[in-house]
Amino acid sequence: MTPLNIPEWQSLDRHYGDIKFLSMREQFALDSGRFERFTIRSGELLLDYSKNRITQETIDKLIALAQAVNMKDWTERMFTGDIINHTEGRAVLHTALRNRSNSPVLVDGQDVMPLVNAVLEKMARFCEQVHSGSWLGYSGKKITDIVNIGIGGSDLGPAMICDALEPYGIDGLSVHFVSNVDGTDLSTTLEKLNPETTLFVVASKTFTTQETLTNAQSARQWFLKSAQQSDVAKHFVAVSTNAEAVAAFGIDTANMFEIWDWVGGRYSLWSAIGLPIALYVGMDNFERLLDGGHAMDLHFRNQPLAENIPVIMGMLGIWYVNFFNSQTHAIVPYDHSLARFPSHMQQLDMESNGKFINRQGARINYKTGPVIWGTPGTNGQHAYFQLIHQGTQLIPVDFVLPVNSHYPECDHQSILLANGLAQAEALMKGKTAEEVRSELVKEGYEGKALEALLPHKVFPGNRPSNALLFPKLTPEMLGQLVALYEHKVFVQGVVWNINSFDQWGVELGKQLAKAILPDLLAADESISEHDSSTTELIRLIRQLRQ
Ligand code: F6P
Repeated sequence: MTPLNIPEWQSLDRHYGDIKFLSMREQFALDSGRFERFTIRSGELLLDYSKNRITQETIDKLIALAQAVNMKDWTERMFTGDIINHTEGRAVLHTALRNRSNSPVLVDGQDVMPLVNAVLEKMARFCEQVHSGSWLGYSGKKITDIVNIGIGGSDLGPAMICDALEPYGIDGLSVHFVSNVDGTDLSTTLEKLNPETTLFVVASKTFTTQETLTNAQSARQWFLKSAQQSDVAKHFVAVSTNAEAVAAFGIDTANMFEIWDWVGGRYSLWSAIGLPIALYVGMDNFERLLDGGHAMDLHFRNQPLAENIPVIMGMLGIWYVNFFNSQTHAIVPYDHSLARFPSHMQQLDMESNGKFINRQGARINYKTGPVIWGTPGTNGQHAYFQLIHQGTQLIPVDFVLPVNSHYPECDHQSILLANGLAQAEALMKGKTAEEVRSELVKEGYEGKALEALLPHKVFPGNRPSNALLFPKLTPEMLGQLVALYEHKVFVQGVVWNINSFDQWGVELGKQLAKAILPDLLAADESISEHDSSTTELIRLIRQLRQ
């Protein structure tokens, strides 16, 4: 059950020994067709993976490994509603949420598409009411501000999409995201808002999440300072699987948008969890996002493994994590509006593949999910790129490159793209000692001064990257991009023989926080049983609290 025993894995291991020092620079010099060989197109999206430490043989072997772990079978099992999230006994059907073909998708013999369509219709009706002004606040004013209260998958995805689709925002409507239980988040958001024109979307799949419920209660208190209890229905709607808890909170279940247990939190932006997106950019643009996701689903499901963008990106990730021993992977969008894209990818990837137990319940003896991180270019270049170029770790980078901006300003976009391409080129090529020497000589250096400076200016190069290039960040393209990474994570989970769709690792901290809270709130000196560090920190907090 361990991939280490699969002959195709072992063959890759031997191949790694053969090519680990192979120079990409030399490969480019030898092969003028390298770009064409190592690019894949899906609609308007292009993946250039030529700047990787690979030969055609590497790709053949990676694809052979994907075949050996039955990648296509697993893919079909996911798309057709098999219970592949076995530790929670659930199907994994975020693809049904964007199944624009509307072909039946069965869970326990029941087609889920009518449920999906009914919620989409309810979202469309609601958006239309809010936008047209037939849904008004308690004092008869139009809604001007949407506040989404949620956390994790009920926040990161929708927040990222709303930022990215800001050019599509509906006039007169702003959207805000409150996630952190730190009161700063809610307070600084509410201080700008008018309760008469604010609509809260309380988004929680389980409707049990402490942070979300605390923020929602405080938001309701803020609202009730100016309004009546009977006005709550006009200003609070919910997205959840848990109608009972929604009703117990005091939200009319007529104003609840349903999701289902076969939608994972970090895969849920396509569901009613996307309501703030639909409200902000309109249902038509939300559907364009779904169209893009669906287009990537068709690509992933139907393309052969070797011509499949998520498969290639996933298998390249395996190559670096398991053979080159990479610990992290950077995602660097050269698009300011994608500032939150790496954070969403962080939850998507790390909550999915941060696992040390395999599907059979045994301890794993190989590496699984890397640390995912990144920020927009060019800013990252002036912060952490030093380490990517000259640090001691190998950090594969994904450069996300839209050709055209929604805000064309003189040469800004060309400068931005020139920088993105330059970083990828520099990472691949590096700069040799000879090149540095000749530069220093031209600058007038000689002797000891030259020799002393020279090693610091050498770039080792041979550092891998992918480029994802597309004409413009439209809703469809954004849908494609997000779905691409979802499937990449899936591909890796299949190879690592883990369940990418549970998240038991977040539970212990939640339980302990519930045990510590009464100690912090206690009126007397009593403290429950903890380690000495935790106990003393609790005591200190009590002393220092104002
Ligand atoms: O704590 C992790 C998690 O369960 C995520 O998987 C999820 O996206 C987030 O919390 C929020 O959960 P909910 O939507 O149920 O409030």
